[in-house]
Amino acid sequence: MDNLHNASAHLQELDARHHLHPFTDSPALSRRGARVITKADGVYLWDAEGNQFLDGMAGLWCVNVGYGRREILDAVAAQMQQLPYYNTFFQTTHPPVVELSAKIAELTPEGLNRVFFCSSGSEANDTVLRMVRHYWASVGEPSKTVVISRENAYHGSTMAGASLGGMKPMHKQGGLPIEGIEHIMQPHWFLHGDDLSEADVGVKAAQALEDKILAIGADKVAAFIAEPVQGAGGVIVPPSNYWPLIQEICSKYNVLLVADEVICGFGRTGNWFGCNTFDIKPDLMAIAKGLSSGYLPIGGVVVSDRVADGLDAGGDFNHGYTYSGHPACAAAALANIEILQSEKIVEKVAKTTAPYLQKKLSEFASHPNVGQVRGVGMLGALQLVPGSEGKKSFYKPDETGVSCREHCLANGLVMRAVDDAMILSPPLVISETQIDELCEKALKSIEQTFA
Ligand SMILES: Cc1ncc(COP(=O)(O)O)c(C=O)c1O
Repeated sequence: MDNLHNASAHLQELDARHHLHPFTDSPALSRRGARVITKADGVYLWDAEGNQFLDGMAGLWCVNVGYGRREILDAVAAQMQQLPYYNTFFQTTHPPVVELSAKIAELTPEGLNRVFFCSSGSEANDTVLRMVRHYWASVGEPSKTVVISRENAYHGSTMAGASLGGMKPMHKQGGLPIEGIEHIMQPHWFLHGDDLSEADVGVKAAQALEDKILAIGADKVAAFIAEPVQGAGGVIVPPSNYWPLIQEICSKYNVLLVADEVICGFGRTGNWFGCNTFDIKPDLMAIAKGLSSGYLPIGGVVVSDRVADGLDAGGDFNHGYTYSGHPACAAAALANIEILQSEKIVEKVAKTTAPYLQKKLSEFASHPNVGQVRGVGMLGALQLVPGSEGKKSFYKPDETGVSCREHCLANGLVMRAVDDAMILSPPLVISETQIDELCEKALKSIEQTFA
């Protein structure tokens, strides 16, 4: 044990000296030392000191098929031997990227048949911004350039991704948002509902889109972008009337509808895509994460035939990445999708494990320190509140979530805190017994937080 501890301490020391972490307060991290994760299997992680954690977040919402899937490793190794790298620029292609494009077209909603590849969700959304503007220019409406997004949305960390996102702390750094991006309210009943019903919040949040389009002028609005379920913002499942209203408004004003499926895609909501779950008909879809279950970095933008035809009319799209459609990443994605399909993982989530998870989570609603339970598919949020007197109307965000997250880790569970909502997005292969374990650990951690 001492040896393990010393090895871990050595890594922590080097890490503090040389590694700049994303979304991390470096001095605070240096004082306590990073958690050093050394291995993973199924839904579990181990740190360098041998502690085991149930990964309630599937890494960063991405390891949909769970850790340690040999099939993906073998597919990547074989592809690395055959063709480790080649690009897809200048009229070139290769077998894995062709096969993956066709597979994605088969899985995505009807009418979305072509894919532009990149390496992450952020790059996918950067691509979206340039693509929708290029589309409108190509079809003779170059004034349509503004993209409307939502407050508290997360669309990535690049300049365009963070600007499309609606997170104020991100906008404060680096002079964001960039020009031509506007934000409207999110359909978050718990936070913004006041005395309104959920349906009223759905109408109000959708009306905000119409008002914004009218204020800017429909002839200047290129697109509206949104996650089917806001993930990093706190697993905000919209009221059921929200998406139908949004769809109607986008078509009324000829505004492209972009679904950011980076979290929701590949089974997370109990269907292949969040668009299936909420009956959204998008013009473009950003994908990443679950596309390869995070085994290798790959993302993309899937476009409708209308958008593809428009882009075709515009000649060269002067955009692309060295690793667009990287062969090894494409092979990983194909093997991942093969696992999802052959093991009927999405179907099992829909029929068995997601209803079980949602039922177990709903039991938290009677807890005095849980103000709201949100969830769909394999996504969940437990909104913490100070006590039963603090349910909804007395709610004020504080640091309770961070404290609860620390208790979770001490109890062998990875959950994420978004303000004081505790977030869940476990691997889709989690079993009912493991869901029991997860909920027991979450309950214990909540009790300790408020003890
Ligand atoms: C909805 C959504 N879009 C985009 C991104 C950015 O993806 P990446 O971190 O791969 O750049 C994320 C990441 O969490 C996300 O949740």
